[in-house]
Amino acid sequence: MKNKTKCIILLILIISLISFLTYNIYMDKKDNKQEENNKIANNNTTTTSTTTTTTTETTTTSTSTTTTKVTTKATTTTKKVDQSDKFVSSKGYKITYENGAYYVDGYLIANKTYALSSDWKPQNTFKSVPNSGFAREPLNKEAYDAWLLMKNDASALNLNLWAQSGYRSYDYQKELYESYVSKKGKAAADKSSARPGHSEHQSGLAFDLNTITTSFKDTAEGKWVANNAYLYGYIIRYPENKTDETGYIFEPWHIRYVGKELAKALYNGGDWITMESYFGITSKYDD
Ligand code: DAL
Ligand code: ZN
Repeated sequence: MKNKTKCIILLILIISLISFLTYNIYMDKKDNKQEENNKIANNNTTTTSTTTTTTTETTTTSTSTTTTKVTTKATTTTKKVDQSDKFVSSKGYKITYENGAYYVDGYLIANKTYALSSDWKPQNTFKSVPNSGFAREPLNKEAYDAWLLMKNDASALNLNLWAQSGYRSYDYQKELYESYVSKKGKAAADKSSARPGHSEHQSGLAFDLNTITTSFKDTAEGKWVANNAYLYGYIIRYPENKTDETGYIFEPWHIRYVGKELAKALYNGGDWITMESYFGITSKYDD
């Protein structure tokens, strides 16, 4: 073979080799690129699927968040309802809790729903109660003064009013209530005697007059009290046929000082309105 021919063949081989290598490198790159793209695509798919999952999760989370929110809201609402039952009455009166006592529209409230703390004692007290034969412990002075006026005015009409029971401490009410429970059973006791903390007698604003019997309402004193107590700022706290509202049987002897304005409204021309109905509050034990 001639040298020239040999050179041409060698050149062709070199060019072929270079072309082959270039092609392979190109293909490799292409494969890599493809692989990379695939990876990216896969990653994207993963990302997408992650995104989807995330989205789903987010949606789920969102849903559950929403659910939680709804639940929270519902719970909050329920709480609010529970609380509003305690802090805003169903008739829109503000209920506040201060130093162990609840007040509705500024009036102290002690019933089956709203309790006084065990150490709550009447403020603005008048300690010595002459000629009463009962309360040597603190009484609200305003209530006491109104009671004295009422008693004296009744006396001027030859009516004899006396206070059978006035202020009762938490501990004394506890003894009293428990003695009723042991005698009559809990259900019956709850109709006539307040559990400790739940009695208005602890407030120093309530009195039991004369005889603790329903027939008191038919006596001259009972009738006068029913029709005149409001003029002194007192109410018949547990009127007849209002057990569903007050939680207690009719107690014509139990009067509660609320001041003249509210007393007149609750007297309602002789058709007593209960504090529970007037303010839109309940009187129920939890159990
Ligand atoms: N008898 C009333 C409800 C009281 O115990 O306070
Ligand atoms: Zn009483």
